[in-house]
Amino acid sequence: MEALATQEKIPCLDLKGQHQQVKKEIFEAFERVYEATAFSGGSFVEEFEKSFAAFCGTRYAVGVNNGTSALQLAMLALGIGAGDEVIVPANTFIATAWGVTYTGAVPVFVDCTSDTWQIDAAKVQDKITPRTKAIIGVHLYGQPFDVEGLQAVCQKYNLYLLEDAAQAQGARYRGKPVGSFGEMACFSFYPGKNLGACGEAGGITTQNESYYKHLLSLRNHGSTVRYYHDEVGFNMRMGGLEGASLNVKLKYLEGWNNRRKEIAKRYQREIQNQHLQLQSQPEWSDSIYHLFVVTTEDRDGFADYLHRNNIFPGLHYPVPCHLQKAYAHLGYKEGACPHAEYLASHCLSLPMYAELAEEEVSYVIGVLNAYRNA
Ligand SMILES: Cc1ncc(COP(=O)(O)O)c(C=O)c1O
Repeated sequence: MEALATQEKIPCLDLKGQHQQVKKEIFEAFERVYEATAFSGGSFVEEFEKSFAAFCGTRYAVGVNNGTSALQLAMLALGIGAGDEVIVPANTFIATAWGVTYTGAVPVFVDCTSDTWQIDAAKVQDKITPRTKAIIGVHLYGQPFDVEGLQAVCQKYNLYLLEDAAQAQGARYRGKPVGSFGEMACFSFYPGKNLGACGEAGGITTQNESYYKHLLSLRNHGSTVRYYHDEVGFNMRMGGLEGASLNVKLKYLEGWNNRRKEIAKRYQREIQNQHLQLQSQPEWSDSIYHLFVVTTEDRDGFADYLHRNNIFPGLHYPVPCHLQKAYAHLGYKEGACPHAEYLASHCLSLPMYAELAEEEVSYVIGVLNAYRNA
């Protein structure tokens, strides 16, 4: 593939194009925040909360300082704490489990399926004990998890379902946006997410008024009336600049997600290489392709090949949660979650962002199809 020497580098994610597109509007919004000195919480955050709740089809949304805090506060709002267990997928970003651990409860890791790479609802039942209080389903890589599968287990064992939608703003399960299937849903607006703030931010959606009120208090020092503290709370408010940037970007999100879907369709249709496996997409899933993950037997060799061809994939994630050192005390051994372990040692994330040009997508596909087929 000779044309490659002159090719620009194609990373897994490049945020520059998106930020050039919205720079003027965002700077104008920042100016309004500045003039109003609304730096912590305030009207810009409230505006975002309203719009985001409408976007997800929920009654409420609460803005917080990041997605990890969202998970922690959601766990607390459910009353989860020391002595409790919460089921978490082994294949997720570690913060899903942090939200459980911070409360004093214990995450119990469950393997993913071999093809959707999402938590295997059939395996959850084996992990339920009298201490189990909740299941966190993760809409990983932007693809909805098996909502009905997990809802059925929750109903049977009287457990709470929580959504970790950090990677899935705008994804749909059976046509309905994620964010309204669990008791609450937790979002990250980290800059690299499909909807990312200019800074750190997160949010929680819910249909339930009492969770909503509790979350407002928890994020604000356990207080609803200034300097009166009804419980031990946290400073986890969303910043005004972050809220203002999200207000601007939310208007573009559907268009950006649609472009990602187009790119994903091309990858799915045109990547034809027996050495590469793609994530299977169940019929109920309308993914927004936060990541486009593939697996291959010789991951290091494949990564070298891509680097030589100026393509720089991501790796999400190299170690499954149950084998992270931070959780060594829980005693999981290799082999405990074989599909998640396989993924961790065989996956790579292809370039995926709305600003990828059609020629770049064609180029990536060409390089992938030539892998070991030259
Ligand atoms: C699945 C998942 N859960 C939780 C988080 C935590 O979000 P944040 O980085 O905003 O704390 C992230 C993002 O990093 C994530 O990808």
